[in-house]
Amino acid sequence: MERHVPINNIMLIGFMGTGKSTIGNKLAEKLGWTFVDTDQKLVKQAGKSISQIFEESGEGYFRKLESEVICQVLEGKNQVVSLGGGAVLNPDNCLHMQKNGCVITLTAPLDTIVERVQGDSGRPLLQGDVRQRVVTMMEQRKGLYDFSDFSIDTSTSSLDEIVDLIKDMVSGLIECNPL
Ligand code: S3P
Repeated sequence: MERHVPINNIMLIGFMGTGKSTIGNKLAEKLGWTFVDTDQKLVKQAGKSISQIFEESGEGYFRKLESEVICQVLEGKNQVVSLGGGAVLNPDNCLHMQKNGCVITLTAPLDTIVERVQGDSGRPLLQGDVRQRVVTMMEQRKGLYDFSDFSIDTSTSSLDEIVDLIKDMVSGLIECNPL
């Protein structure tokens, strides 16, 4: 694959519950790179939980903070960055990601996602009938993750296998674009 941008960062995108943070952490450890979770950074900077931000200021305000954090984080190098599932809703965020390294979409089937996110009170968009919410949101976001360089189903392999696969996928790119 031809790449014209330096691979400063490896960015993991995908729907909630696809394993972005778990896989990102392990991948960073194996590469000796820094792991950054944009949601964690946002929460730290705001001094409030995501649920609190949604409740007090609404989703629009959360998305504004999210875009700001993405811009800040992507200035860095040698990072594995896990992004919130809704980061792709803003096309500017996607353009920014494409300019700053390799973007990987993590996927999982509906049942796996529902199983993974069930009972998690920290995700304000999944309150109520979780399965129905996931179905609706997956439909609304159809195609939005397709701009990435690679896509991996996280339901059929072990954590180590997935991490090694991503390492193999990006190692050629990193060699082509020495840091
Ligand atoms: C969201 C996903 C969450 C978090 C917020 C909104 C979304 O991140 O950013 O609750 O809109 O998909 P995870 O994908 O890490 O759960």
